[in-house]
Amino acid sequence: MIQSQPAAAPALADKMKIENLDIFYGTFQAMKRANLSVPDRHVMALIGPSGCGKSTFLRALNRMHDLTPGARVEGKVTLDGVDIYAPSIDPVTVRHRIGMVFQRPNPFPKSIFENVVYGAKIHGEKNPKRLAEIAEKSLRAAALWDEVKDRLSRSALDLSGGQQQRLCIARVLAVEPEVILMDEPASALDPIATSKIEDLIGELKRDYTVIIVTHSMQQAARISDFTSFFLLGELIEVGTTSDIFTRPRDKRTEDYITGRYG
Ligand SMILES: Nc1ncnc2c1ncn2[C@@H]1O[C@H](COP(=O)(O)OP(=O)(O)OP(=O)(O)O)[C@@H](O)[C@H]1O
Ligand SMILES: [Mg+2]
Repeated sequence: MIQSQPAAAPALADKMKIENLDIFYGTFQAMKRANLSVPDRHVMALIGPSGCGKSTFLRALNRMHDLTPGARVEGKVTLDGVDIYAPSIDPVTVRHRIGMVFQRPNPFPKSIFENVVYGAKIHGEKNPKRLAEIAEKSLRAAALWDEVKDRLSRSALDLSGGQQQRLCIARVLAVEPEVILMDEPASALDPIATSKIEDLIGELKRDYTVIIVTHSMQQAARISDFTSFFLLGELIEVGTTSDIFTRPRDKRTEDYITGRYG
């Protein structure tokens, strides 16, 4: 729920809705009863101290926990009103519609071109002209095209960290997802590369819903429309980013944003 925003929030269509989400690693409960609505084509930031469950929460949103032995997810996560954990739903399709960008850029040891079209090829696209179009469109959308257009056949591993991260974003965009999950995508980058990623996120929300974990409150304030504050496995408070940073309702949120802990 966008609790701190009284009037505007209900008018926004929900892209994703998380209801009573519990997440366990074995017997340890890492997330307790989390509820959140994520408006379409906006940026939702997830903040909170280390170990509070931000990554755990994020990974539940595209069924990444399916791949973690011992992890268990209970509750409901919907995309456009459809439960992504329903037995009839294929997790691969979920991860296609809800893409993920990780903390450390993880390009494959292949060419720049092969990295971008990887997903499209898996989905059966073979036409070289079409693949070239997909590569250009995605690299342009990820604000990387001008830097790599003359060396698409070179190894992705030769790119700088910031370029690699934009390449990973291009790789996600190439499969035309609807939601992009990002787990501290700029934490390994220098200030210039970080600012490019932040600008890019501002562009992406025209077409995509972005849910981003960040340790930087300044970054959350710069790039997000809404912010959720997590503490010790609980989602404490959600609101517009300006409300969360200027007039949080929960004392624990206030303590965190004013630097009293974390
Ligand atoms: N695969 C796992 N198996 C067991 N426990 C885990 C696993 N992943 C995370 N945890 C535990 O779940 C809790 C939440 O971890 P999580 O990684 O979600 O925190 P976080 O908020 O993303 O932290 P950070 O800001 O440091 O990335 C922690 O206590 C962590 O030790
Ligand atoms: Mg994390």
